[in-house]
Amino acid sequence: MRSKEYCRPAHSSPANFNHLARIYRWAEWFTFGPILSKCRVEFLPAMKSQQSALVIGDGDGRFTARLLQQNSRVVVDALDASEGMLQELKRRAAPNASRIHALNLDAREFIAPSHHYDLIATHFFLDCLTTDEVARLAAGLREGVAEGALWVVSDFAVPNTRYAKLPAQLLITALYKAFGILTGLRIRHLPDHVTALARSGFKLMQRRERLGGLLASELWQAY
Ligand SMILES: C[S@@+](CC[C@H](N)C(=O)[O-])C[C@H]1O[C@@H](n2cnc3c(N)ncnc32)[C@H](O)[C@@H]1O
Repeated sequence: MRSKEYCRPAHSSPANFNHLARIYRWAEWFTFGPILSKCRVEFLPAMKSQQSALVIGDGDGRFTARLLQQNSRVVVDALDASEGMLQELKRRAAPNASRIHALNLDAREFIAPSHHYDLIATHFFLDCLTTDEVARLAAGLREGVAEGALWVVSDFAVPNTRYAKLPAQLLITALYKAFGILTGLRIRHLPDHVTALARSGFKLMQRRERLGGLLASELWQAY
């Protein structure tokens, strides 16, 4: 659905993941095995009492399906620019369809209803944005959540350690090139989401690294 109340004017077109939607899960499995899924669910136990979640760049709904299974009260606004991904999400989370509100929107246009959400999730999505876009998104979202709301982030990262840094940079460059070809994604560098979230009124509560720091799961909280 596309609703005016959620929109502000867009700039460029978002990356197009439609034709990847059905194979996305398998492509991920063949490249990274189960490790990205482990990142997504890292902080799931902290979300048992949340009631209103916004999952941005939700993709094929694997995280949302797990969240809805574990928490029988939570209602999820699942936002994604790809209609194909949202179709996959609805199929996957069908047993809890009444608690899903699918928003086919560009996240950069999204205006969150004030103090509505107590959970935000962005798994492998912020890396589709520039640092400025993440900063604008975070500032807008801070207006849309109450104090104490959680924000879970999973993403690639460049580790600081001497031997891990270069291979990680090479892998991330290769991934950006591949997604550039496959989806038209124009971003070529990871955004500095840590500064953007910290400046917008979110505090980093926990961080878990995997693959020597190439992957990070983070739990942030609005203050
Ligand atoms: C790399 S995939 C990650 C999907 C999912 N969160 C996961 O963990 O597998 C990025 C997702 O973000 C969506 N996306 C990219 N740019 C977007 C934007 N500007 N607004 C909304 N969704 C966007 C894509 O359609 C895609 O589903």
